[in-house]
Amino acid sequence: MLECVMGRVFLAGAGPGDPELLTLKAARVIAAADVLLYDSLVDPRVVAMARADARLIDVGKRCGKHSASQKEICRLLVAQARTGKLVVRLKGGDPMVFGRATEEMEALQAAGIGFEVIPGVTAATAAAAALHVSLTKRAVARSLHFLVGHGAESGLPAHDWVSLTKSGGTLVVYMGGQTLPGLAAHFIEAGMAPDMPAVAVESASLEGQRILRGTIGSLPGLVLGAKATGPVIVLIGEAMEQSDELDDVLLQVEAEG
Ligand SMILES: C[S@@+](CC[C@H](N)C(=O)[O-])C[C@H]1O[C@@H](n2cnc3c(N)ncnc32)[C@H](O)[C@@H]1O
Repeated sequence: MLECVMGRVFLAGAGPGDPELLTLKAARVIAAADVLLYDSLVDPRVVAMARADARLIDVGKRCGKHSASQKEICRLLVAQARTGKLVVRLKGGDPMVFGRATEEMEALQAAGIGFEVIPGVTAATAAAAALHVSLTKRAVARSLHFLVGHGAESGLPAHDWVSLTKSGGTLVVYMGGQTLPGLAAHFIEAGMAPDMPAVAVESASLEGQRILRGTIGSLPGLVLGAKATGPVIVLIGEAMEQSDELDDVLLQVEAEG
């Protein structure tokens, strides 16, 4: 019951963009919020679901570029919650996936403020839905790995490229659009076949959604040429190979309207 949670904070997932992909619970707390703090990847149509008199605070975090520092966001969150208002902290996708939720939960906990986390549809599963491929596939991809595509300073994170390559699972790279050439080079150096299927999805679930299919060898060039302006997620692995049969079915479905 929302009446019982005034002064509490909801860390809610806004999903990948399409407002239809919000959970019912997220939609309910957004509509009830006195204060909404949201990242720049949160779709404006989702923000517009807030009450007309709700205070909307754009904390503008995107791909590591902040209009407010993480420290400032935590400070704001705590300050707003202390007023006893219903505060909703809205994050793109799922708050617990590359969303810096830990810092915010720790800040709330340290301030003695109760919070609840509402999961959201993460970009990886939105991309899989767009591609009509399963992220896991029996006897082909038995594990699923979510990776960050850029590191704090070097541009590339220090992943264990060999273990990831040997895993044979599906690798999903968040925030890797810019660093894809370096990521691909590391994977190939670690033993990944250059013709390993790899796909980039820009703006999954949104009108500007674009799909670039290639291999770990060719995808960096394709992504560079595409000059993406929306968020890009990269999926690598055998499971990303789309079967000709499925392609035929999809074409037929599209043709039939
Ligand atoms: C800071 S991370 C946040 C991830 C988010 N918490 C989630 O669960 O999807 C931002 C990255 O998520 C990916 N992303 C988020 N929304 C996306 C979308 N609609 N289409 C493609 N990639 C997306 C991109 O890789 C982007 O750089």
